Amino acid sequence: MRSIIITGGAGFIGSHVVRLFVNKYPDYKIINLDKLTYAGNLANLKDIEDKPNYKFVKMDICDFEGVYQLLQDEQVDGIIHLAAESHVDRSIKDPFTFARTNVMGTLTLLQAAKLYWESQPTPYVITRKVDTAQPTLNSELSALNQECRFYHISTDEVYGALKFDGTLFTEQTKYQPHSPYSASKASSDHFVRAFHDTYGMPTIVTNCSNNYGPYQFPEKLIPLFINNIRHRKPLPVYGKGENVRDWLYVEDHARAIDLIFHQGKIAETYNIGGFNEWKNIDIIKVIIHTVDRLLGRPEGADMDLITYVTDRQGHDLRYAIDSTKLKTELGWEPSLQFEEGIEKTVRWYLDHQDWMDNVTSGDYQKYYENMYSNR
Ligand code: NAD
Ligand code: DAU
Repeated sequence: MRSIIITGGAGFIGSHVVRLFVNKYPDYKIINLDKLTYAGNLANLKDIEDKPNYKFVKMDICDFEGVYQLLQDEQVDGIIHLAAESHVDRSIKDPFTFARTNVMGTLTLLQAAKLYWESQPTPYVITRKVDTAQPTLNSELSALNQECRFYHISTDEVYGALKFDGTLFTEQTKYQPHSPYSASKASSDHFVRAFHDTYGMPTIVTNCSNNYGPYQFPEKLIPLFINNIRHRKPLPVYGKGENVRDWLYVEDHARAIDLIFHQGKIAETYNIGGFNEWKNIDIIKVIIHTVDRLLGRPEGADMDLITYVTDRQGHDLRYAIDSTKLKTELGWEPSLQFEEGIEKTVRWYLDHQDWMDNVTSGDYQKYYENMYSNR
């Protein structure tokens, strides 16, 4: 039986990963470690919260003693780390919170896992990929060694911005983060790799492009705009709307995480993306047409909601991921065409207005208290 901590499991992507693991691996114990910041919402996991192989622990990833104790109590042999402050606009207003959670929080998890795994009768240590340090580590792979994983979920934003020249981010692209968010994620990636290179920690890093789908907090472009169109509120398009993002349906990301957690090579980096680039203004038009159609309004009737506003500071022009390595080495490909994914997504938000209302009213933050006071 495996015992796995998934951090940030009450957030958008984390909730899809938790759901996939809880349903697919009844023999695993899945521990969702989440602080429940504004972005954490346990209602995202309503359908699996009573499963016997699922446990929720409200904890800050910066709480070293708490994390270390949990690793011991649950005899954890795998960590899938998604907890983060994730919104670029918030990072521009409040960079300290991003450094604290994304950098110090990741370092806290790494150090706690290192100390716990080292204290085991058969320590986790494996042959280092980069064998530069002292040759004091045990290169024998024990049964436990082969199981242990610290898998860090990162973003394509660490690579910086591309021009409109058809180039793509590969695993070799040098880091050039621009926003406080991407700088904090880049820093956390470096710590993860440093723990492998220095201590032999069994780490994996993946860098993924923009995700979309159900349960995304409505501060991000797609859920915010779907909700605004529904209520006929203005759609604030930053700058000229010409920035490009590479969109991936969230369940495809969760599938990639499952595959890489089980079959990815230690110390490797994998890019994850949909080969699906869209200019913001074009995707916004698709969303308007889809919402209008599904609500029975004349298609395009809400085009006048588009409102060009001051651009985001340091707004990255274009992201585009080359995920060839993941396809060639592990056989992963996105399963959904964008047209299908966006239709599913818009339909989900329109059908789950109660979820959206709970979030926008702030009521969702009471869900945890109610859920636990009733037990
Ligand atoms: P999210 O903001 O929806 O969720 C973040 C979760 O982390 C929330 O549940 C929150 O409560 C929790 N959290 C925040 N601070 C915490 C702390 N100190 N301790 C414990 N829990 C804490 O984020 P998301 O969009 O689901 O992103 C998840 C991860 O994937 C992040 O690491 C992000 O950088 C990365 N990522 C996101 C995207 C995307 O498009 N959303 C793309 C690539 C990579
Ligand atoms: O690329 C991966 C990243 O994608 C993740 O690491 C981040 O966690 C995630 O938030 C996302 O970052 P973006 O900044 O690309 O996502 P966001 O939804 O905030 O914005 C998408 C694009 O839309 C971006 O070019 C900014 C623009 N935008 C966004 C909002 C919220 C607008 O024009 N208006 C808006 O109101």
